Amino acid sequence: MTTIEACLFDLDGVVVDTAKYHFIAWKALAEELGFEFTLEDNERLKGVSRMQSLEILLEIGGLQFPEQEKLAMAEKKNTLYVSYIEKMTPEETLPGVEQFLQELRDNGIKIGLGSASKNAPMILDRIQLTHLFDVVVDGNSISEAKPNPEVFLKGAEKLKVLPEYCVVFEDAIAGIEAAQHANMFSIGIGDPETLGFADLVIPGFDGFTVSKFKSAFGEMTIENHTDT
Ligand code: BG6
Ligand code: MG
Repeated sequence: MTTIEACLFDLDGVVVDTAKYHFIAWKALAEELGFEFTLEDNERLKGVSRMQSLEILLEIGGLQFPEQEKLAMAEKKNTLYVSYIEKMTPEETLPGVEQFLQELRDNGIKIGLGSASKNAPMILDRIQLTHLFDVVVDGNSISEAKPNPEVFLKGAEKLKVLPEYCVVFEDAIAGIEAAQHANMFSIGIGDPETLGFADLVIPGFDGFTVSKFKSAFGEMTIENHTDT
């Protein structure tokens, strides 16, 4: 018997596809610095923090800069990135996500966001999903990046749910590892070849219902052990 009280969602690649905007912004920086940045390179940045992403980008370009310059570059990239996400609309929410979140709520399951992005609150606002999340833990409130479990452990703590009663939805390898380090169940969103070490892998939320979620976890019960 598995007891699930809360679900924690990564944002980028799980709730919305922001990778294309990150790509445009990092590519512009790379071009300015005089080297090419490909879509394949961009894959390496998924789930990785902003400064770590910059480090990977500079490694690809074979360049090194002092800390101050790197901070300015990350800031510049973010300004361009924000100019795109500012224009996001609810239509950009990935298929089935809103319905699944609503169904979880209707079934009494708590919902948290666990994202590395410092722009997470703005994105949730633009796609009008803030109201479906009981708590938001994002890049502004964590000091350790995934695969460190901090972001999910903080989410569980804020929700007043023990980690072993939480399920994490993630599209990045580092995110699934973070869930496992947190002693939570993990559901990979994407390719089983890449995320096969998660407890379950699904292609996305389109057609994924609480009933399917329950059968995936055997005789799952949905309970509330805490008085909130
Ligand atoms: C993660 C993305 O969710 O957030 C990464 O997958 C991104 O690609 C990271 O670098 C940090 O995002 P932001 O918005 O704080 O630059
Ligand atoms: Mg992600």
